[in-house]
Amino acid sequence: MQTPDPDRAAFSSLIRDASHEQHTEAETSAFMSDLLGGRLGVDAYARYTEQLWFVYEALETGGERLAGNPVAGPFLRPELLRLPSLERDLAHLRGPGWRAGLTALPATRAYATRVRECAERWPAGYVAHHYTRYLGDLSGGQIIRDRAEKTWGFARKGDGVRFYVFDGIPSPAAFKRGYRALLDGIRADDLEKQRVIAECKRAFALNTEVFRALGEEFRLSA
Ligand code: HEM
Repeated sequence: MQTPDPDRAAFSSLIRDASHEQHTEAETSAFMSDLLGGRLGVDAYARYTEQLWFVYEALETGGERLAGNPVAGPFLRPELLRLPSLERDLAHLRGPGWRAGLTALPATRAYATRVRECAERWPAGYVAHHYTRYLGDLSGGQIIRDRAEKTWGFARKGDGVRFYVFDGIPSPAAFKRGYRALLDGIRADDLEKQRVIAECKRAFALNTEVFRALGEEFRLSA
């Protein structure tokens, strides 16, 4: 396969192509495969949802400070915000005391720490994390929702899977096109773009580490 020429390929294509291999790795991780294959109980799904809470808490509170930033600001759209939906899902999955029982795995803590660091010091790096999560949620997230509804009997687009429901985005395909246009217009030179691509790969690796840790916690007996 030919390596894309960074001077000619659109940034949105570069970033997607650069993370393609890791995307497959995340998608086919033992935990994800077992979860989506219906081989794990709802407790594993709840534990995963808890980990997402820490990641989105970092993304969305970190994002607040970037609202007026010329690089990251345009990506911050209220219709993407996931924290309120995650909290409703957790109240459904764990009960009203969900917050008291919430614990981050070390891998999740590392992921959230890195997101927070980028939000505080490096807006373009924050965009790499924003892209990795939200574009994924708008894409594969819909497959996860469908499986979760079927496996554990959640109401369609209801409590338990609200995280995957974007009420303010009637056409994910159109939204993703707009998002890619924003990526293509990002104010950064080529070196900075390469750094953002590297951060995106790091974001995928951080996700894979969380899956690995969850896989250890919910190992299926052979
Ligand atoms: C079983 C789990 C997953 C499935 C089934 C899945 C599936 C998909 C599919 C079908 C697309 C293509 C959508 C399109 O072309 O418009 C996609 C895109 C994407 N996924 Fe996933 N995915 C999964 C996990 C993940 C994870 C763990 C991440 C990272 C945290 C992720 C991040 C992304 C991103 C960033 C895109 C957008 C790529 C782009 O068009 O620029 N996905 N996913």
